[in-house]
Order: sequence, then structure tokens, then C-alpha cells
Amino acid sequence: MEQQSTSTPVVNTFNEWDPLEEIVVGRVDETTLIPPWDVIMPACVHDKTQWDFFKRRGGTPWPVEMLKKAERDLEAFIDVLQQAGVTVRQPEPYPYERPLASPDWGLKSSCYALMPRDVLFVIGDQIIEAPMGWRSRSTERLAYRELCKEYFRGGARWVAAPPPRLSDESYVRGFVAPEEDEPQRFIVTEYEPMFDAADAIKCGRDVFIARSSCCNRFGIEWLQRHLGDEYIVHEIEVHDTHPMHVDATFYPLAPGKLLINPERVVDVPDMFEKSGWDVLVCPVPEMPESHPMYNCSRWIMMNVVMLDETRVVVSAGEKRFIRRLKEWGFEPVECPFWDFETIGGGFHCASVDIRRRGGLRSYF
Ligand code: NVA
Repeated sequence: MEQQSTSTPVVNTFNEWDPLEEIVVGRVDETTLIPPWDVIMPACVHDKTQWDFFKRRGGTPWPVEMLKKAERDLEAFIDVLQQAGVTVRQPEPYPYERPLASPDWGLKSSCYALMPRDVLFVIGDQIIEAPMGWRSRSTERLAYRELCKEYFRGGARWVAAPPPRLSDESYVRGFVAPEEDEPQRFIVTEYEPMFDAADAIKCGRDVFIARSSCCNRFGIEWLQRHLGDEYIVHEIEVHDTHPMHVDATFYPLAPGKLLINPERVVDVPDMFEKSGWDVLVCPVPEMPESHPMYNCSRWIMMNVVMLDETRVVVSAGEKRFIRRLKEWGFEPVECPFWDFETIGGGFHCASVDIRRRGGLRSYF
């Protein structure tokens, strides 16, 4: 008689904290390119002094020394995951240096396969290829094709949100990012659904998402209708002069524990207080101002990865944050990551969890 399988489905992830079994981690290699300058970048890159670097060097490889250091950090992260018994998978090499074109636009290259979190929204047993906002990243999902095919063959659902056209209609013409004291505004229009997978974060039946330079209301509506009645997609309000991805802003780390960025979260939805969640206010980053950061802010330190409800992989240089995490009842697992963060992301960006041991439930 055929034995009924009781193991966890090949793709199974409902929140950030169920015990982690399998994860995809990005790849650093000689094809890791500096993103080519494009219409969306002034809305995303916080540090204006870096804009000229992207304009001059975009589409060429990052300097070798920088890549070597970033690769060392990524290897340390992979080691931490493997030591914890997690299966680590990686995307296949992909020719990022080739020109990209559509009937509406052309660019000299794409970028990399560094940040799977932005590309694939993995929820329950399904992988959703996100309708990404950067033209230079619009084919990045192809680096994950072999993995997606394998997971599909293993029983996962696999779908692509409508790939956006990303013509000029998708962006506000002449957009200038707001200053700190100005109201929030966004470069993306409502022309077509857009979001990057990292604009949303899972918390059981509830998914939290923030509009950003890559995410519009049309995209949020698409995600809610696609997910259907099993999930509620909540839009949260943030203030960020260069908004892109919610996972250095608003992060449900474990049941009853929400980590927030004190400079960006405008309002924590009432549901957290009503359900007795602790709101953990992240201390300010310790990374020295002199440390080069091209693509994201120092708040990237919030971009942790949970191995389970208590063990949290955190950037080793952030001692104050590590102390707070301990006070909040977590067990920090320190890993050097500042040199990876230099080229654009933290642990959460650099990975996407495929399988955690657990099921769908509400935490509210
Ligand atoms: N855009 C965010 C990082 C998101 C992971 C920041 O620069 O802080």
C-alpha cells in the first residue's frame, strides 16, 4: 500500500519565524554588475553623492576588491545557515552583461542575482515572480528559473504577476524625491500593477505591504486578489524619502514581536496592540558614516533572517542592536555583513526562504 507522506511540502512558508529548512541565497561573482542608471534610481538611492558613480559605472562589474569582500560575507552567511542545518540553494549564473530592450526602452545591461527576496514572493506553497519596478531588474527572475522549475516539479505552485511594461507612463515625469520634512510621494504611477517581492512581508494570514518606489496600489490590489480570501493584505504607511522594500522598516520577527524603524513607521496598525504584540523600536545603526553604502541606508541592519522564533542572524558590527535583541528574548547569531551591505542589501534581501516547518494561521 502506498505510504502517505507526512513531510512538509517542498515550498512552505507562511511567516518569518517558523523553523527554517531551505532557503535560496543570492550569488556574488564576476557577473555582479553595478546597476545601470535609469529613471527609477533617483527615487531609490538614498545617498545622492553616489548617483554620479551609478551614472558613470552602471552596467560594469563592481570593483574586484569590493566583490571579494562581499563574497566573503555571503559565504559566512551561507556557513551560518548550513551550520544551523538549513539547505542552501543558489541561482544559476545568468548573462547580466547583455543589453536589455523592450519596445519602450533600452538599457546597456541588467544587474545581478544578488537579492532573491526582491524577485520571488514565496507564500504558502507558491512562488510568485514579482512585477518588479526597475527596468534593469525586469529579467532577473530568469536566474531562478531552474530552481522554480524544480520546486514546481516537486509540487509547488508557480506564477508570474503580469510583467509590467515599464514605459514612461509607469513613472512620474521629472520626479524629485521628497526631503525629510516633505510629505511622502512616489515615483511610480498607477498605470500598471507593480511591486517588488520585498515590498511585502508575511505574518501568517496577514501580509503587510508598503507603497514604495517600486510598489503602487495597483500592485497591492493585484496581490490581494491573487492571494484570495485566505490572506489579508494590509497597506502600512511609512515615511521614507527613498522608499524601497519594507524589510528595513517593518518586520514581524516572531509571534508577538514587531520590529519597527523609528524614523519611518508612521503608524503601527491597531491590530498589533489589540492582540498584545510588543513593538520593538530598533536602535540607530552603528555602521560608521565612512563605510561606503551605494544603494541602501544604514538601516539595512534591520534586515535580519530568523532561523526560528528565537535565533536571529544579525550583522556582527551592530553591537547595540545585538544587545537589544538579547533583551527582547532573542538569540542573536552574529555574522559579518557590512561589506555585502555596501553593494545593496542585508541578509533578508540576499535570501528568500523556501521552506519553513509550520502552517497557515492567524497571529491576531
Ligand atoms: N531601502 C531600504 C532597504 C530595504 C531592505 C533602505 O535603504 O534602508
